[in-house]
This record gives sequence, C-alpha cells and structure tokens, in this order.
Amino acid sequence: MKAVTVENLTKIYPVPMRRQRIIAVRNLNLEVNEGEVYGLLGPNGSGKSTTLKVLLGLVTPNQGKATIFGKDSREYRSRAEVGFLPENPYFYKFLSAEETLRFYGKICGLRSKELDARIHELIELVGLQDARHRRIGGFSKGMLQRIGLAQALVQDPKLVVLDEPTAGVDPAGSRQIRDLILDLKKRGKTVLLTSHLLGQVQEVCDRVGIMARGEMVREGSLDELTTIQRQTEFLVEDAPEGLQEKIEELVRQSGGRFVAARRPQRDLEGVFLDATAPKK
Ligand SMILES: Nc1ncnc2c1ncn2[C@@H]1O[C@H](COP(=O)(O)OP(=O)(O)OP(=O)(O)O)[C@@H](O)[C@H]1O
Ligand SMILES: [Mg+2]
Repeated sequence: MKAVTVENLTKIYPVPMRRQRIIAVRNLNLEVNEGEVYGLLGPNGSGKSTTLKVLLGLVTPNQGKATIFGKDSREYRSRAEVGFLPENPYFYKFLSAEETLRFYGKICGLRSKELDARIHELIELVGLQDARHRRIGGFSKGMLQRIGLAQALVQDPKLVVLDEPTAGVDPAGSRQIRDLILDLKKRGKTVLLTSHLLGQVQEVCDRVGIMARGEMVREGSLDELTTIQRQTEFLVEDAPEGLQEKIEELVRQSGGRFVAARRPQRDLEGVFLDATAPKK
C-alpha cells in the first residue's frame, strides 16, 4: 500500500475584492511509497505547502483527492498515524518546551507515564536539553523549529510530514535533523518533506518531485535525476606528473572524449563544522 497518494489535485484560492484567482496547485499527482523519504521541491509559491495542507485535511481542494495509507485524507482517521511540522508552527508562548510536548502528547492520547520518558527522549533528540524548562515565547526561530519537530514525533507516527524542517536552523542543527530523518527511515517510517536546501535533500531523500507554478515538472529517484548517464569520473590521489597526458591519450585511443580534469572540493558545510566543532 502507498503511504501517500495525491490524485489530480487542484487548489484555487480566490483573491478577495478583485476578480482574480490564484491557481496554487494544478492537476497534481504524487505517490510516496511506504518507508521512503520523499522530498517536494520548488520555488517560493509553487504550491508545496498547499499540497501538504490538503493532504493533512487543513485545506479543501477544488478538485482531486489525497489518501494516507489508503484512507481518504478528508477523514480524520487518516491522520491517526501522521506527525506534521507546519510551515509556521505556532505554540502557546507561556508553556515551556517540556510542557508543550506534554500538551501535544496528551492530545494524542499518550499516558502520563509513557509520556515522561517520551518527552525526555524527544528533547534530547532535537537538542533542546538546555532549554527544556524555558518558555517557548523566548525561543529563537531555530529552537521553535526543533520543538515543532519534536511535537511532530510525539506519538511515534508512521508518516512524518515536514514543511521545511531545517528553515532557520544552524548547520549543526540541520545535520542533527538530517540524521534524525535518516534514523526515522531506518525504523521503517515514511517521511514527506519540503525544503529549499537542495544539498540536504540530496543527502536524505530517496525520491524527489520538483514543482513549479503549481505543477509537478520533474519526478524520480535521486539517482535517476542526478546521474549523468554518459559520463564516468576517475578520482586519483597523488597523481604523478604527466599522468594526465597519458590518460587523455588513452581515452582518445579508446574512442571516448576527455572532458575535464579537476580537483574535488569540500562543501562549505564541512569546513564550517570542522572549524566550529567543540575541542576534544
Ligand atoms: N490562504 C491563502 N490564500 C490565498 N492564497 C494563498 C493561500 N495560501 C497560499 N496561497 C497562494 O498559493 C500559492 C502557493 O503557495 P504555497 O504556500 O503552497 O507555496 P510553497 O511552494 O509552499 O512556497 P514557499 O516555498 O514560499 O513556502 C502562492 O501563490 C500563495 O500566495
Ligand atoms: Mg511553503
């Protein structure tokens, strides 16, 4: 069974006072397999959040339908095993991090005893140990994002839907969130996320869909989308002088075309994390 299906989805928002309409999502089809991490990408305003909101039953579509584990997403029962991190999570300002998680845990029907252990685990998982008793009202953007993520995981859902999970989170925190998503996958969970950080998407997603102007413009496994089929790279350490010329000659002789020789580079994230890591 598919974890998520979206069929022929169209969502049109009216623009009050003007005779205009915004087609936020147009004829969208989407499938997420059970146990996979799916990334929904696209420029600002391309309809990603709207698609997720329809899936969560928060927005009514003009056309089409969505299902979660085979149940129509208009039924509240379809959301029994779904955790959701919305785009702009809103929390009660006067509750502490722990109280917030207790509040959501109770809504999900967890008992006090199991809840205590779960809250402890989640606070560690999202790295909010030092802020567990602080009021949410004073949280930074990245801290709010972390508590939002913990909230989405409180009842250990089978499907986790994350709208920009790393927005505003620092590089080390983003990496933690990436590891957390990979860990969810390892435990057989399904993750559907949106993100603008393509590097991170590449690290965690099995499949991606790219939206533009409300439509799906590309979809496929990461490999399918990113492998340049006709090219092969060889990586050599401590190449002796003259080796490149020899290789170029060999490539010519064997009928291929030599395209480039270059030094590989690290990404800035790696340099940043190395430079700022706590001293051992
Ligand atoms: N409640 C609303 N009322 C009117 N228009 C809306 C509403 N919600 C979204 N839209 C419009 O629908 C379009 C798609 O918005 P959506 O939030 O789904 O985009 P997105 O891909 O999530 O963008 P971002 O990357 O900025 O989060 C935009 O043009 C947006 O202005
Ligand atoms: Mg959005």
